[in-house]
Amino acid sequence: MPTPADKNGPPRSATKGSSPRSTLEVRPPRSATKGSSPRSTLEVRPPRSAEEIRALNDVEYESFAGFAQPREQTAAWTAHIGHDNMRVAVRDGRVVAGLGILHFGLYFGGRAIPATGISAVAVAPDARGSGVATELMNALLREQARAGTPLSVLFPASYALYRGAGYEVAGSRVMFRLALRTIGVRARALRVRPATAADHPAINAIHTARALRTSGHVQRGPREWRTILEYGLDPIFAYVVERAGSGAVAPDGKHSAGRSAVASRTSSTQRAAVRRAAAGGSIRDAGRAAPDAHATVEGYIIYTQTATRGAGFELHVRDMAASTPEAGRRLLSFLASNMTMAEHASVLTGPAESLLASASEEWHDSMSRILWMMRIADAPRALEQRGYPPGMQAALRFELRDELLRRNRGTFELRVADGRGRVRALAGGGRSARAHAGGGTGPMIRGRSALPLRMHIRGLSPLFSGLLSAGEVAQMGLIEGDEAALATATAIFSGPAPWMNDRF
Ligand SMILES: CC(C)(COP(=O)(O)OP(=O)(O)OC[C@H]1O[C@@H](n2cnc3c(N)ncnc32)[C@H](O)[C@@H]1OP(=O)(O)O)[C@@H](O)C(=O)NCCC(=O)NCCS
Repeated sequence: MPTPADKNGPPRSATKGSSPRSTLEVRPPRSATKGSSPRSTLEVRPPRSAEEIRALNDVEYESFAGFAQPREQTAAWTAHIGHDNMRVAVRDGRVVAGLGILHFGLYFGGRAIPATGISAVAVAPDARGSGVATELMNALLREQARAGTPLSVLFPASYALYRGAGYEVAGSRVMFRLALRTIGVRARALRVRPATAADHPAINAIHTARALRTSGHVQRGPREWRTILEYGLDPIFAYVVERAGSGAVAPDGKHSAGRSAVASRTSSTQRAAVRRAAAGGSIRDAGRAAPDAHATVEGYIIYTQTATRGAGFELHVRDMAASTPEAGRRLLSFLASNMTMAEHASVLTGPAESLLASASEEWHDSMSRILWMMRIADAPRALEQRGYPPGMQAALRFELRDELLRRNRGTFELRVADGRGRVRALAGGGRSARAHAGGGTGPMIRGRSALPLRMHIRGLSPLFSGLLSAGEVAQMGLIEGDEAALATATAIFSGPAPWMNDRF
């Protein structure tokens, strides 16, 4: 759940370390082992009545009250996610836990893969410590695997909890605190003006272009854009950078920015939905700087301001992106133009995003980082749906372990060519793994398979996303293999550092 804490970096608990729980050992799902006393069953499903929604909101409010949000904000967030997308865990007729499920694409290798973003995992205080959250996550993942959605991501408050359900770290969100006086970029050639609802296709196209050259970005639909453009207690400001008069004019008289090669990848339905979503939103159709019908939008910035002690304020940049170097420099000089009133701007971004990496000197005086986690719910689909480097030709045989999801257990071959991957379950593959997986805490898989690479489903997440090399994942105890196989795995999945700046 996006919270006031997001503005100042992740909640403390989110970065708290926890030793990686080992590893390639096969355990039954944790919910099956926790607690010796017989428990009444936990039913996991969408809320069925207004009372259940109220009970869910109460659990959510109490769980996140530390973030000091007004009570209505909690109800606003569950409504924003959509009550059909909420899940409640009901025990003996009482809602004891809940979470929200967002549906979006996640970009890896230039292709968007269907994913869920898990939000607002909350267990009633008196129901904690008995495996409720684990059971909720397991139920959710089984449902997701049945639906064939390959990926799931979340921002963890506890690594251990989500590792128990098969998630592992897979990317970052970094908050830099920029000292505005040190930016020193003066670039005023391009015009900056308040964004309007009509700018949405162009803004979405610029975000999509960045997503295609990065890893781990969210394919934003109307709800994701609303989170960035509208959600929260502080006023939100949005500006675009445009190049006056240089855009090709389309037959309908609209400027060309939304019609770039990148924009054509977003469907007209999606563009229309984004436009609709924005129409009633916080993007202001300000009359003071009318859009130039011939101009091309080349950048955008979305931010809030909060008062600082004494005079002045601090800027909190939720998102900014540019499609040209000039627009990137214009955004930086726009930020710097606040320096008389704001000493700093915090920027939610990646570890070395190109816009900020082009600085002449280090501009930030502090930063915080959160590692988000990913669960691969359907490994064969995920491997086939991501993109790979176009020139890459490789084959990798591996054994995969997954205590929870049957479709991920077995031996597979991944063949990569022409930017695509093909997965084949190997003959006889899976049977030994399946038989083994049901059998309690079994031995390590070392030596059980003749295949050159053996990994736990958790190990696939940081490898797949490109966060870590296969050798680094081996250091975590989540993959084993000979050196050649580890090197091939690293090469297949290597790419830009995965990051996202969405909040959920
Ligand atoms: C975090 C929370 C959801 C856990 O719910 P729960 O039902 O108690 O979790 P489980 O019993 O399934 O615990 C599973 C594992 O998660 C970890 N875990 C659970 N609560 C934890 C906590 N407060 N701190 C650190 N790790 C925790 C433990 O490793 C635990 O296994 P263990 O008991 O064998 O050590 C619950 O405490 C809560 O609602 N907290 C407030 C809201 C919150 O932080 N939500 C998470 C947002 S990402």
